[in-house]
Amino acid sequence: MSDTIKPQSHNWLHYFGGLAFLMLILQLGTGIFLTMFYDPTLKGAYKSVQYLTNEVAGGSLLRNLHRWIALCIFLAVIIHTVRSTLRKDFMNTAKRVYWLTGVLLILPIFLLIYTGLILPWEWKGYWFMEMIPNYFGEIPVVGATLKGFFLDTFTLPRYLVIHILILPLICLVLVDYHFLSRLRKRGIFRYMVRHTIITIPFIVILFVLSVYVTIPSQDPDIIPLPLEGEYIPTPEWWSLLILLPFLYFKGLPVQLLSIYLPVILLFVIAFLPYYLKERQPGTIQTETNSLWKRLWHNGTLSLVFRGVVVTLIVAILFGLIYLGSYNSPTFGCNSCHNLYRGFRMGVPPDNFKDRTKLPNLDDNAWMMGHWFYPTEIY
Ligand code: HEC
Repeated sequence: MSDTIKPQSHNWLHYFGGLAFLMLILQLGTGIFLTMFYDPTLKGAYKSVQYLTNEVAGGSLLRNLHRWIALCIFLAVIIHTVRSTLRKDFMNTAKRVYWLTGVLLILPIFLLIYTGLILPWEWKGYWFMEMIPNYFGEIPVVGATLKGFFLDTFTLPRYLVIHILILPLICLVLVDYHFLSRLRKRGIFRYMVRHTIITIPFIVILFVLSVYVTIPSQDPDIIPLPLEGEYIPTPEWWSLLILLPFLYFKGLPVQLLSIYLPVILLFVIAFLPYYLKERQPGTIQTETNSLWKRLWHNGTLSLVFRGVVVTLIVAILFGLIYLGSYNSPTFGCNSCHNLYRGFRMGVPPDNFKDRTKLPNLDDNAWMMGHWFYPTEIY
């Protein structure tokens, strides 16, 4: 059985898809632990998270692991995607479904990050929750209705169910089509053992990060600094990228950059193998008369071309993320928003559904500005 399905080669770059898969399993484990302590009520959520982090043995470690693993999954998925693109996996019509499900997996992973940020329900989570209706509010025609819908239907228990049940189920179905069905043929046991062994260095790094770079949650006893978390890569960075145009623009540019572009890109890329013409193995061009064609076909030019394209894409992607998120003070919100400060502090208000009481929430530029420059914008 196993001699028919041999891995193509042992390039280490093949390994990141498997890394993301193992990390998903770890994420499931740490997530089940967190669920045991979580109280999905507006008044109790942050307290339960604080209790878990500060009182429960291993609680801080597992909570921070859950957070760092989220980042690790995202990075692994990006490397895996770049790698599959370079290998031109989308040209392979027989393996269409692997490409499609792979691209579609990006959606639930993004949504898991969003809902995961909201659940602790400190001011960071509160902010993310408020930006979801604002984001959908920008969609033409149906925007206002959608915005109202997201505000009306938000409750912590619902978002908890989405985070721990609905999204993981969607992931499971997609991962099954993407990968598990193939893995069952290849032999799960050997695969898992091999990948677990190569994953150990990453797990060690994640443990070290989870012990030394933690989310401050001892407020109001020990309050964080306002700008704490600047320069520390976090899962939010990726989610902030799509919201970033809200900081600089209003109206059409926001719609173009935050809504149309990502949606169109996702669909174009997801269905690539369905409309690209497959190259027939026997009919590779044989006329290599021009110098250009000869150079291209012996690989030099196409290699250079691909190298430049990949470098550009990666540079643009990371440049944007750097630009957008490097000074995001992710951990510092509770330095001002804590129980000792009085007005609008402590646990986020539960009357947020009536935005006439908190008009700032409708002002996207203010909201984004307050995230990046909390000490400047009031
Ligand atoms: C330097 C102190 C300070 C820091 C740090 C801070 N905030 Fe604020 N925040 C305030 C003040 C003061 C207000 C009320 C502003 C107003 O009413 O105009 C506010 C308002 C808000 C609001 C709007 C709701 C309302 O009451 O109007 C949100 C949401 C918010 N902060 C989220 C955050 C997040 C997320 C962070 C961390 C990235 C953060 N804040 C960091 C001081 C701070």
